[in-house]
Amino acid sequence: MPEETLSITDNRTATSYTIPIEHGAIRAMDLRQIKTSPEDFGLMTYDPAFMNTACCQSRITYIDGDKGILLYRGYPIEQLAEHCTYLEVAYLLLYGELPTAAQLEEWAQAITHHTMLHENTKRIIEAFRHDAHPMGVLASAVAALSTFYPEAKNVHDPAVRRLQILRLLGKIPTIAAYAYRHSLGYPYVYPDNDLSYTENFMNMLWRMAEPKFQPNRTLARALDVLFILHADHEQNCSTNAMRSIGSSLADPYLTMAGAIAALSGPLHGGANEAVLRMLNEIGSKDNIPAFIKKVKAGECKLMGFGHRVYKNYDPRARIIKQIAEEVFEVTGRNPLIDIARELEKIALEDEYFVKRKLYPNVDFYSGIIYQAMGFRPEMFTVLFAIGRTAGWLAQWQEMLEDPAQKIARPRQLYLGHARRDFVPMEQRAVAELVR
Ligand code: CMC
Repeated sequence: MPEETLSITDNRTATSYTIPIEHGAIRAMDLRQIKTSPEDFGLMTYDPAFMNTACCQSRITYIDGDKGILLYRGYPIEQLAEHCTYLEVAYLLLYGELPTAAQLEEWAQAITHHTMLHENTKRIIEAFRHDAHPMGVLASAVAALSTFYPEAKNVHDPAVRRLQILRLLGKIPTIAAYAYRHSLGYPYVYPDNDLSYTENFMNMLWRMAEPKFQPNRTLARALDVLFILHADHEQNCSTNAMRSIGSSLADPYLTMAGAIAALSGPLHGGANEAVLRMLNEIGSKDNIPAFIKKVKAGECKLMGFGHRVYKNYDPRARIIKQIAEEVFEVTGRNPLIDIARELEKIALEDEYFVKRKLYPNVDFYSGIIYQAMGFRPEMFTVLFAIGRTAGWLAQWQEMLEDPAQKIARPRQLYLGHARRDFVPMEQRAVAELVR
């Protein structure tokens, strides 16, 4: 058996070090012993955007980006999408095992009991302008929940934590639906606890004057599967924000508001909205070659393509493509799907995309389905956030229970001025400013 160590020779001092390798990684702190003198701080690694740095040990989600594999707690995403409900998957992510029938019933009931919002939260949502972006509304309303549940700050108490997890899973669809109704000027619809998690969400979105909302089963199942596909994705930008903010022991509402903010960006969850705008801009298949030319010239990006980890087809995109056909049987075909499919075909044959291993990601087809269901593009990332809530909470909980974790506090390489003395106003010259 070869030794699981790394030998390093520091050519500055001609000193050699042996560093243990565990799980295919070395500990960055083991590099600190590499010094040129006793006063030297010690060697650090420089890794902008965490391209090659593991910030935690996790047992939740596994991705093999080269093979296009995604597992939640060891179960392939394809099997979970086929057989589970979103709440079953949320349980799996949070507790590590699939629930029994009795556990699932108790879990679903517990979450259902927390779907109501305090009326003041409703008023907070009412205060936004009619054209407020729902991601801003969502982040603000989730942050505001912190003020309603001050006990939530006891993050080390497992019972308190569980209650906030139930509240967040229960209330996030209600906030999302209220944000949606607010943008349309419609009255808010209170939760209907006879319905399943996703059906109730549809009820809060779309019920009008009818006494009881009758959800379309195919659309409810499609939306539920979309929530499953978005439920977790290991250490992505928003999950990293969740862990990083949570490491200060901030309460889960304020912490998750930060994760929602991170998700909103167009390089992350906001890409689904950007894809739809891009497809609308392209407008017809005939315009695709000219658009691809612009992408290759670096003038814009092919939104919904590429991924930091997947260098193969994103398995979630494959499932979403299948769901699209089922949804279109109910809603009618969204013509943008034909532009998307042609764009994908051309891109996957083009050397630019092949060489860079750029494949469709989860956001490439999801917006087309959401639009067919009747959502406006501004809501797409909100739908992503509903699904991701389970993953954020599972990762937050794992971080809090991990004895190796402390407050997140990266290092920097300081390249600025050395110490210098204050210059009085009258002696200052116009200098070139740094940005
Ligand atoms: N269109 C055109 N070129 C691209 C794209 C794209 N979508 N994505 C990457 N590239 C090029 C990039 O310009 C670079 O080329 P070069 O080597 O010539 O400089 C090369 O591919 C490597 O890209 P990168 O930017 O270094 O890769 P990254 O890992 O930093 O970025 C990404 C990953 C997802 C931010 C990026 O692929 C991207 O911006 N994609 C479009 C936005 C998008 O769809 N985001 C959703 C991601 S999946 C869901 C989620 O996380 O929320």
